[in-house]
Amino acid sequence: MYQVVRKKSLADAVVLLEIKAPAVAAKARPGEFIIVRQFENSERIPLTMMDFDAEKGTVTLVVQDVGYSSALIAQAAPGDGFVDFVGPLGRATEIARYGTVLCVGGGVGIAPIFPIARGLRAAGNHVVSVLGARSRDLLILEEEMRGVSDEVIVMTDDGSYGRKGFVTHGIQAVLERGVKPDVIWAIGPMIMMKSVAAFTRPFDIKTIVSMNPIMVDGTGMCGACRLEVGGKTRFACVDGPEFDGHLVNFDLAMKRAAFYKGEEALAKRQEHALTCDCGCGKGGH
Ligand code: NAD
Ligand code: FES
Repeated sequence: MYQVVRKKSLADAVVLLEIKAPAVAAKARPGEFIIVRQFENSERIPLTMMDFDAEKGTVTLVVQDVGYSSALIAQAAPGDGFVDFVGPLGRATEIARYGTVLCVGGGVGIAPIFPIARGLRAAGNHVVSVLGARSRDLLILEEEMRGVSDEVIVMTDDGSYGRKGFVTHGIQAVLERGVKPDVIWAIGPMIMMKSVAAFTRPFDIKTIVSMNPIMVDGTGMCGACRLEVGGKTRFACVDGPEFDGHLVNFDLAMKRAAFYKGEEALAKRQEHALTCDCGCGKGGH
């Protein structure tokens, strides 16, 4: 069993879980991910790591309650365990000295951008981070990101904190100062990564995105995570999860990601029917 040793609520429906997994923590690098299975009959869920500590033997995950399985994971408490904790998987971020880099995190995508920003800063880069959230109460890990960045620009969709606008407006503000970043990392919802890549293409700024399609085995065998990158089929689990954002076919990736939305909604309604105390007995509200 891989035991939860710490839990913290970061925002509505977003929790941080620190989990004892010494073998994974000893090898983990920024950009890699793990696949967890909570119970014997649970589905396998891929999650990018927010942090890892080889000395403590722990890995930290940030989980958003978006579906049936992630809701159960988000309910895990200290002392609870996971039956499987497989990783680290995927290819690590190419940490090197590039010059000025932008680390763009949207919503829960701020969690996986954290170790990347930390690694890039330790390698001697000037790190400017652009963090986006729909509103102030949904912004996560601001202090942690300030600790690993030379500058942090906060954007909220509704203007309740920082500057009003999307992360793309934050990138635009940096470019308007006459700064051309050497590389941009962007992690968040698919539509955000598509917008960032579309925004940076005319400026010819290398833009790396982290794709999180549906995954099953995580080892390149099942094909569930396939993407079209530069006109070729690529598997996010073994060829990624990071790819050149200018080459990713986001429209196809978003279509594939929506494929099981109906089943997911049904599973959520069934979970509600089992767990709600409103007496409906049928869920769906
Ligand atoms: P969200 O919808 O709250 O959006 C976060 C920010 O993204 C917004 O505040 C905005 O700045 C930016 N954004 C959104 N739409 C945009 C657009 N059209 N143009 C420019 N910027 C835009 O994000 P959320 O609810 O936290 O996101 C959840 C999604 O992120 C889930 O689908 C999850 O799978 C995904 N995610 C991806 C990764 C990854 O590794 N790629 C990691 C964690 C989460
Ligand atoms: Fe099966 Fe990537 S998850 S090939």
